[in-house]
Amino acid sequence: MLKLPKIIGHRGVAAYAPENTIEGIHTAADMGIEWVELDVKLSKDQIPILFHDEALDRTTNGSGPVAQKTLEELRELECGSWFADSFAGIKIPTLEEALEVLLERRLGLNLEIKPCPGRERETAEVALDLLSQIWDDHDRLLVSSFSLISLQTAQELAQDWQRGLLIGEHWPENWQELIDFIEPSTINVNAGTVTREEVEAVIDQGLHVLAYTVNDPDEARRLLRWGIDGVFSDAPDVVREGLFSVH
Ligand code: G3P
Ligand code: MG
Repeated sequence: MLKLPKIIGHRGVAAYAPENTIEGIHTAADMGIEWVELDVKLSKDQIPILFHDEALDRTTNGSGPVAQKTLEELRELECGSWFADSFAGIKIPTLEEALEVLLERRLGLNLEIKPCPGRERETAEVALDLLSQIWDDHDRLLVSSFSLISLQTAQELAQDWQRGLLIGEHWPENWQELIDFIEPSTINVNAGTVTREEVEAVIDQGLHVLAYTVNDPDEARRLLRWGIDGVFSDAPDVVREGLFSVH
């Protein structure tokens, strides 16, 4: 049974450390966060790495599509100074490095398969193959994606692992078909656009609901009142403090 926490660190803990980095995982653990969400993509030479964007420009000192760089080329870049000088010089991690730190720090994981276009199947295949060699505790692992191809691949390769179907800003009319097709455990919804009716319809199906990205405790409280299970947050301490402190 999936043991979902109420608050999951988003991209590690994106308000306090550069997203999708080893430093972010440590920061989350130091803050007492139980789970983190991380995005996985493939390098040109098919190595799974933690990275969010299709392009290197926003979060590294490189430029252009990440899918066109080998791991060796990616390792020459640094991905910390855009965030703060104190993180200058840090490297894009491989998924394997991240999994080792997650296990060492006893964190649960929502791995979001974030394929570059055209690599939906292989990204899921490679990431799941690695996970299957390293990760045992499936109560503390959720594999999610916006990509139906990636989720379908996960379903084929690791049917028993829990899947999360990510929904964007627009609620899909065929949501029921998607659920029947992917058989997810969770629906991961956009906190800013989802409605109470949509949340309740999903809960009525016996599914869990997680909402991204929530940094305001009032918003978290509203969503939890609607019955969602938890939120992804860049600032989990702020949400936690607002939710659980006694006024
Ligand atoms: O998995 C929840 C959330 O991370 C989805 O959006 O763009 O932050 O990966 P994004
Ligand atoms: Mg993500």
